[in-house]
Amino acid sequence: MSHRMTFVLAAAALFAVISGSATAQSFEGRKKCSSCHKSQAESWGETAHAKAMDSLKPGTKEEAKKKAKLDPKKDYTKDKDCVGCHVDGWGKEGGYTLDDPSKFLTGVGCESCHGPGSKYRGMHRKAGAAFEKSKKTAPRQSLADAGQDFAFEESCNACHMNYEGSGWKGVKKPYTPYHPGVDKKYTFNFDKYVKDAKAMHEHYKLDGTFTGDPKFKYHDDFQATAKVGKKTEVED
Ligand code: HEC
Ligand code: HEC
Ligand code: HEC
Ligand code: HEC
Repeated sequence: MSHRMTFVLAAAALFAVISGSATAQSFEGRKKCSSCHKSQAESWGETAHAKAMDSLKPGTKEEAKKKAKLDPKKDYTKDKDCVGCHVDGWGKEGGYTLDDPSKFLTGVGCESCHGPGSKYRGMHRKAGAAFEKSKKTAPRQSLADAGQDFAFEESCNACHMNYEGSGWKGVKKPYTPYHPGVDKKYTFNFDKYVKDAKAMHEHYKLDGTFTGDPKFKYHDDFQATAKVGKKTEVED
């Protein structure tokens, strides 16, 4: 291979790295996800995750706050030691900020579990349209490459296991005030909790647009008992 050719290839590789990082996946809020996935969005709206910001308002969850030695009369909605785990994408690109608190990032929403959606959501639209037209399927791997999370556990841990002595390797301040030391009921059990549809959202039957690995370990179980929901939109 000539030196010139090597240089061209190296420059192309460098450009790919730079442009790749410039378009890194970022948080966008649940508006778009919800307009296509109406059934999940409605069901999610009933969960404690959806209402997580309310718990930071004064006069709410008084007993729970006293138990954790917090002040039930205090407004914690702008407190940097609290907000991060009660919203989407705190400290991350496109995520919730105190200066510009988008209502679509308030509460623990879609992207907190499924991953920041700026890149993969467009793939859902395209693949959905292709499937509707000709039953052509698309690989889950391309979604994973664009930042969609199919394992979930690490995302949950970042909020639920973030306290001293939890054994989770990512532990760093600010910690959750609600851990098993306060009450055993705050012990996080991923395999049990992730099956709690009242805490995630109800599951609805998919058409099977996406195939292959990485598939969530309980995907087939959830689909076997899933409800028939509203049609998933392919336009946003
Ligand atoms: C961004 C932080 C965050 C992430 C990510 C997160 N949670 Fe939560 N979770 C919370 C908060 C905060 C609450 C409490 C909401 C409230 O009551 O204000 C909660 C509540 C819950 C509850 C309800 C507990 C109860 O008392 O009924 C369950 C179950 C749960 N989460 C499971 C999960 C699972 C499983 C995952 C991952 C798939 C997950 N959570 C991801 C922050 C998070
Ligand atoms: C590291 C993440 C994290 C931080 C920081 C955090 N929380 Fe939470 N918070 C959670 C999780 C996770 C839960 C759900 C616990 C469960 O039910 O198992 C929760 C639940 C709650 C609840 C509901 C408890 C109940 O029993 O209903 C209140 C109230 C609350 N948090 C207030 C606060 C306040 C106030 C702060 C700041 C002083 C704060 N949180 C900081 C993660 C966090
Ligand atoms: C607390 C975590 C959590 C939140 C928040 C969450 N999901 Fe999910 N979602 C899951 C889990 C776990 C699955 C099961 C994944 C599987 O079966 O492959 C799932 C599955 C899905 C599916 C596949 C079909 C189904 O119903 O199982 C869609 C679509 C979906 N979620 C959309 C959304 C949308 C839209 C939002 C926001 C309005 C959202 N999710 C919020 C955890 C969450
Ligand atoms: C333009 C519409 C559209 C948007 C926007 C969109 N999706 Fe989807 N999504 C789809 C379609 C279509 C499918 C394939 C559904 C099927 O196979 O039945 C899908 C599939 C999924 C699945 C199932 C993947 C699997 O394992 O098979 C999840 C989870 C999901 N979407 C979550 C989200 C989240 C979270 C967002 C926002 C960040 C989002 N979607 C944005 C249309 C959309």
